[in-house]
Amino acid sequence: MNTLGFICFLLAFHASLSVKGPFSAAQNNNGAPTPQFMPLQGLTQNFYQTTCPKAQGIIKSEVTKIINQNPSEAAGLLRILFHDCFVQGCDASILLTKPMVSEQVAAPNNRSLRTSTIRILDQIKDKVEAVCPGVVSCADTIVLSTAIAVELVGGPNIPMLLGRRDSNNAASNQTVVANIPAPTLNISALKQNFQNHGLDSADLVALSGGHTFGQAHCRVVDLQLTPTVSTDLNAAFAANLSRICIPGGTNNSANRGALTVHLDFISKDVFDNSYYTNVLNKVAIFHSDAALLNATDTKQLVQLYAQDQNKFFQQFKVSMLKLTQLGVLTGRNGIIRKKCSVPN
Ligand code: HEM
Repeated sequence: MNTLGFICFLLAFHASLSVKGPFSAAQNNNGAPTPQFMPLQGLTQNFYQTTCPKAQGIIKSEVTKIINQNPSEAAGLLRILFHDCFVQGCDASILLTKPMVSEQVAAPNNRSLRTSTIRILDQIKDKVEAVCPGVVSCADTIVLSTAIAVELVGGPNIPMLLGRRDSNNAASNQTVVANIPAPTLNISALKQNFQNHGLDSADLVALSGGHTFGQAHCRVVDLQLTPTVSTDLNAAFAANLSRICIPGGTNNSANRGALTVHLDFISKDVFDNSYYTNVLNKVAIFHSDAALLNATDTKQLVQLYAQDQNKFFQQFKVSMLKLTQLGVLTGRNGIIRKKCSVPN
């Protein structure tokens, strides 16, 4: 099947397996926990209003230019934000490359965070530095750029709070491994990982919705395909993934390490609720995606968000606000890095 054939297959597949969850609209309202969020002291929406009033405008215009050229960078940004905040807090430690060993080469990140996105963040920060030197943190640059990008590709408006400061050190490989969930985790390990970060099942399900766009490297996808095809995957979908990823398939090139597949084949660069339909239809790629169906509370939320994009967006907004205040440095703590890759 060629690419067009594959897309047609998936469209037909989605249509034939449209979601029929057990909820009526009224039950949806009762079934969903009310999203709750407590703002952290020291963070405000207009943090730079007096110190760098142009900051937000500059970041918005840069991100808009970038997303117009390449909408898939929104996914690159969201993953960098997640991997920053889950390891030692949202302190931009993920962007440090010198003089310490970078988190970027730690096992869960190795060769899978987009270098293009890291360069983009450096460029945005340079533009802000040119106007207000030493004022706006790299941590806030990641958070604000991501929120703007996600909204530009269809996601909700997230009223991000600002005022984070940067760390001057990166976390060890061991710390990254301990904090970033592996795609092989089962539902109780996923819940435990999120709970360790102060996040609940609703946060787990809503933030996993980040897999509604972006890509995965074949070496990760292979975990679901070899030695035997995982029962997480629809058989025809797995066969197509194998054709793309497995040696001997159509892409048996020397450059296999760089091969990727879309996390969402239907709307690959759009932030919408199709991730949840994909999970229900067994066309979401990772075991950690399928595992959301293995506990009653997370399964009900997958069904709810598949039916109701507004409910997903409401929870995603709150979960992102919670995620982006994990372990933040404020006030006199931390520094403002001028170049995000070095501790000044
Ligand atoms: C729940 C546990 C999670 C696991 C096990 C997981 C695992 C992964 C893996 C293995 C990849 C593919 C990496 C690659 O091969 O390039 C990936 C991609 C991605 N993840 Fe997750 N993830 C999780 C949660 C999240 C969360 C909470 C977010 C954001 C809120 C997120 C956003 C993304 C995005 C946007 C991509 C695509 C990145 C790109 O296209 O550059 N993930 N994830």
